[in-house]
Amino acid sequence: MKQFVNGVLFLACLGFGQFALADGEVEAKYRASVMKSIGGHMSSMATILKNQVHMDDLVMHARGLAGLADIAPEVFPEGSNIEKSKALPAIWENPVEFSKAMDRFIEAAEGMASAAGTEDMSEIGPAIQTLGGSCKGCHDDFKAE
Ligand code: HEC
Repeated sequence: MKQFVNGVLFLACLGFGQFALADGEVEAKYRASVMKSIGGHMSSMATILKNQVHMDDLVMHARGLAGLADIAPEVFPEGSNIEKSKALPAIWENPVEFSKAMDRFIEAAEGMASAAGTEDMSEIGPAIQTLGGSCKGCHDDFKAE
């Protein structure tokens, strides 16, 4: 019981007071935070590589991003295309094209995770380029400005 109360207090502290969001809104909210985490790892890696600082953290960011890439296909359920979402209807209208863009991203994220471990810029440079291209490839077709 004590543990349960603590759990509830913990959720309350995190601002989980309103349990009333509709499913689609929850899904869109979760998607936005997953994408922000992906963006966070990506810009951390860009800062590391551009300035040659915290090089030891590169592998962790690359792995974190690859882990998020693995769950990315799950954050676009039907019904999550709420008004304030930037996800375009094309995602659900052209599922085959969308899943190709997703596969390219997952593969590129895996590629970056392996390249990061080599500590070799001739591997890392192209891998991060390919990864960045896979973000743009999907955003161009499936995300509103
Ligand atoms: C397969 C498609 C796809 C790929 C690949 C993809 N994104 Fe996204 N991204 C989206 C969509 C769609 C949205 C809009 C989501 C929404 O608003 O509901 C988005 C939103 C974002 C956002 C904004 C989050 C917010 O709401 O503030 C960031 C940042 C982002 N993506 C970064 C990245 C980065 C960095 C990569 C590559 C490492 C990437 N994305 C790869 C589809 C993709």
